[in-house]
Amino acid sequence: MTAAHPSRLGPGRHLLVCGGAGFIGSCFVRDVLGRRDGTRVTVLDLLTYAGNRANLAPAEADPEQAARFAFVEGDIADPDVVERLAAGADSIVNFAAESHVDRSILGPEAFLRTGVIGVHVLLEAVLRETRRAESGERTDPTGRPLQAPRFLQVSTDEVYGSVEEGSSREGDPLEPRSPYAAAKAAGDLLAGSYRTTYDLDVVLTRGANTYGPYQHPEKLIPLVSTNALLGLPIPLYGDGQQRRDWLHVSDHAAAIAHVLEHGEAGGVYNVPGNTERENRDIVAALLAALGRPWDLVRRVPDRPGHDRRYAMDGSRLAALGWRAAVPFAEGLPATAAWYRDNESWWRAIRDGDWDTYYARQYGARLAAGEPVPTPPGWGSA
Ligand code: NAD
Ligand code: DAU
Repeated sequence: MTAAHPSRLGPGRHLLVCGGAGFIGSCFVRDVLGRRDGTRVTVLDLLTYAGNRANLAPAEADPEQAARFAFVEGDIADPDVVERLAAGADSIVNFAAESHVDRSILGPEAFLRTGVIGVHVLLEAVLRETRRAESGERTDPTGRPLQAPRFLQVSTDEVYGSVEEGSSREGDPLEPRSPYAAAKAAGDLLAGSYRTTYDLDVVLTRGANTYGPYQHPEKLIPLVSTNALLGLPIPLYGDGQQRRDWLHVSDHAAAIAHVLEHGEAGGVYNVPGNTERENRDIVAALLAALGRPWDLVRRVPDRPGHDRRYAMDGSRLAALGWRAAVPFAEGLPATAAWYRDNESWWRAIRDGDWDTYYARQYGARLAAGEPVPTPPGWGSA
């Protein structure tokens, strides 16, 4: 049996955060360091097109936080770097993944490499460190014994597939429908298998659609916000009536910290946002928040295999004592305002290899796009 663990955060504690330069991982890192509780954080990140050191700049600019922070550029699928970093970590939280469904349709290989091989390499390192802890070899530089590391795999509601009615519970079958979701489901299954076979201290979170500052502009909310600010057409897939459940990034990061601290070993925890909306309503709310006209919106050919709806039951996480704090009615306009006020952050991304991606993803679709009738109530207070 895995013994009960003391706190994973606080003085003397050391977290290895994989994928910590991305959207949610960087929020987690900023928030953990911002607690000023003595936790040390090392980020391991490959800095793919989605990884961005600028996301960590607020923490790195603060001397107290910077003194507890280290950044390593590297691949979770590289056993050498992972073994070295795992040796000193009390916990490993894995955000690293290729995360965009549309890109997984254009080219799935990188999704599999990081989502399957990468997760396997991390689990092997956790196994090695667990065995070292059991034999007493795992010590800090002063010779004090160290506990086995806890491994938290960050997963997604997409592993349950499209949920036409009701809400997914943690024990439901996994029915992923895109290469992205299949790679994530493979990571979940691998993590579960290492828990069962080797009795590792593994926990898993499955988060809902996340929004907030520092999200790469390829995703719906930042894409709509930045296109609106630039006066560019806004691509709405199909009928725009697909439903997503929205979760603020600070709530998602806080839920992950809560599960890291309080989750049961082997536990899987849904992290819902409890805010289900149709895509066309999200687009309308963002345009209203930014004062931009509806006629920017274009109906474009749908995403192949597009999941119609996601919804999760969050009672297991609620029973663990966690509650979301950011109401969508405040979080969404604040997010639109953040993109309006932080143009230099997203311009740097949209000025890179963005045009090539955008042309491949949207060129033909926008050429075939049509205006979308103005929704009822548009423009009313
Ligand atoms: P993101 O694309 O913004 O960030 C991913 C990060 O991982 C980037 O910094 C990237 O450089 C890094 N990375 C990619 N491959 C790597 C590798 N092989 N080795 C090391 N680093 C690597 O993603 P995100 O939106 O922040 O999502 C983070 C995690 O949360 C992912 O696992 C995703 O599946 C999951 N998730 C995301 C959402 C969402 O709505 N964004 C919702 C639920 C779960
Ligand atoms: O549900 C959790 C998942 O949410 C995460 O696991 C993924 O990493 C994350 O990317 C997100 O996946 P989605 O596919 O739901 O997010 P995306 O922002 O790509 O799209 C949200 C919805 O908006 C989806 O129904 C497709 C639609 N969409 C998206 C884009 C980019 C459009 O209509 N137009 C667009 O241009």
